[in-house]
Amino acid sequence: MNAAHIAQAREMMSSTVDKTKMYVDMDQSKAYADYRPRYSEEMFKAIVDYCKKTNPDLNLAVDLGCGPGMSTMGFAKYFKKVIGVDVSETQIACAPKDIPNLEFRVGYSDKLPFVKSGTVDLVCSGEAFNLMPQKETFAEADRILKPGGSIAIFGYDLPTSEQPEIAALIQNMFFTMIPYWPKESTQLFDKFQSVKIPYPDVTRNDDLKLKMTIKIEQFKGMMKSTWPVVAYSKEHPDEDFVGDVAKKITDVLEKTGTGPEFTICYNLFILMGHKPKH
Ligand SMILES: C[S@@+](CC[C@H](N)C(=O)[O-])C[C@H]1O[C@@H](n2cnc3c(N)ncnc32)[C@H](O)[C@@H]1O
Repeated sequence: MNAAHIAQAREMMSSTVDKTKMYVDMDQSKAYADYRPRYSEEMFKAIVDYCKKTNPDLNLAVDLGCGPGMSTMGFAKYFKKVIGVDVSETQIACAPKDIPNLEFRVGYSDKLPFVKSGTVDLVCSGEAFNLMPQKETFAEADRILKPGGSIAIFGYDLPTSEQPEIAALIQNMFFTMIPYWPKESTQLFDKFQSVKIPYPDVTRNDDLKLKMTIKIEQFKGMMKSTWPVVAYSKEHPDEDFVGDVAKKITDVLEKTGTGPEFTICYNLFILMGHKPKH
C-alpha cells in the first residue's frame, strides 16, 4: 500500500473499536493459536543479534501483546526467561504451558508492576504495538529495560499470494473488511514507519518475509483469527464471509489444476532500538 492508499483506508476505518477487546473470543483465540503465521527463526536471530551489540546478557525478555505466544516462543531458546503479557484472558489461555522458561500473564503493556525496574534485556512486541497506548508503553519499557537493553517492535502487513487470482481474492476480502479495523491499524500497513522508538540508536529491518504453503482449512482458520472477520461476522450473522472467499479460492485451485495447496506471503518488518547505557 502506498501513502495515498493508507490515507484512504484510514478514512474508512473505525475510531470506536476498543483495542483491548479485539481478541477476547475463545474460538478466535483458538484459531489464532492454531493457524496464525509462525515467525521465522531468522527473525528471532536478527533481534537477538541486535540485542547482543550493546548488552551480552540474555536473561530476561518481555513480550507485550504476546497473544497465544507465537512472538514469545521463538525467544525461549535464547533467553533464560521470557514473560509474555497480553490483555486478553482467552489469548493467554491458548498460550503454551509446556515450555519451562516461558511465563504468561494477563496485563497491560503500559502497566507491568510484576517486572522490576532495570532488569530486562529485551522488550518486544509482535503485530500488536499498533493497538497499545504507545507513549505510556515506551515509558514502561524504558523503566524495566537495563541500560544497553533493546526494544524490538515487529509485525507483518496484509497477506498476498504468489498465485495472482488468489492474491486478488484475498486483497478484495481485506478491502471489504477495512471499516472494521481500528484506525491505528494503518501503522501495520505503513510497516510501523510512523512509530518512533524514543532512543537515539535505532534501526529497522525490512528484508525478511513470511511465506507459507497452506490448504484451504488453514486459510479459513487464519482469517477467523483476525479481528475484522470476527467483527464483520457479528454484524452479518447470515453470511459465511470466510467460507465464500474460501470457495472462490477452491474454484481457482480446481480451474488451474495446481492441487489443494497455495502460497500465502507477508512482508515482515522489525523496528529496533537500544536504550542508552548512560
Ligand atoms: C494481533 S495480536 C498479536 C499476537 C502475537 N504477538 C503475534 O505476534 O501473533 C495483538 C495482541 O495484542 C493484545 N493487546 C492489545 N492491546 C494491548 C495492551 N494494551 N496491552 C497488552 N496487550 C494488548 C491483544 O489482546 C492481542 O492478543
